[in-house]
Amino acid sequence: MKYLIGNHKMNLSEAELKSYFKSLKKIAKNSSNFVGVCVPYVYLPLANKMCKNTKIHYGAQNMFYEKNGAFTGEISADMLKDFNTEMVIIGHSERRNIFKETDELVNKKVLSALANNLKPIICVGETKDERENKQTNKVLKTQIKKALANVEAQSLNQIIFAYEPVWAIGTGVSATVEVAEKTIKFIKEIIAKMYDLQDLNKIIVLYGGSLNEKNGFELLSQSHIDGGLIGGASLKTEKFEKIINIKI
Ligand code: 13P
Repeated sequence: MKYLIGNHKMNLSEAELKSYFKSLKKIAKNSSNFVGVCVPYVYLPLANKMCKNTKIHYGAQNMFYEKNGAFTGEISADMLKDFNTEMVIIGHSERRNIFKETDELVNKKVLSALANNLKPIICVGETKDERENKQTNKVLKTQIKKALANVEAQSLNQIIFAYEPVWAIGTGVSATVEVAEKTIKFIKEIIAKMYDLQDLNKIIVLYGGSLNEKNGFELLSQSHIDGGLIGGASLKTEKFEKIINIKI
């Protein structure tokens, strides 16, 4: 079983998403994979309505860590739960880079998501410069350690990690299979070491960054890659379906 989760980012209209869910419902029904989609906040009521009694898992793309208060424009975990939201992306590189989210903020959001029974999808990844300067391992180690500060071992099975190299996102050029597999194994080893775990298979890490129906088979065939967090190629069900139906 692989996790195939779409991140719609700031895309699709309500009407488009309605027909999207209608098609995805059938695709998910015939799949043994975990099929998910993270939609803009305003479409969570629609997801709640249309994904009920289906095999589609849905989530949000962000949240704030406080329970309530004077935080104009923000959305709390409780509000997400009002619409039966199951997952929430935290620390996506677009949030880190465009909205200047820090590792400390990511950690607060992770703790709040866990406390509210949401599955955080924690994104980590290096920039092109960092990779070229051989900083990848150091950057990932810092992002992971800080994201998981004060997270208890028993919460780990509630967390999905996503390795999303910034240079591969939305560029049409994914990481090579070797790089993706090796880096994801490294991520699992860091987490295993932090929590004294013997079995790397207990840690779920997805790959994200220009994963599509053409390179999906190779990437998803790797033993440490537990699935994909998919942007562009998840926006049309015709494309997403080809990834969901890849037989490993
Ligand atoms: P693309 O698949 O469009 O490269 O986006 C990946 C991503 O950022 C998923 O969160």
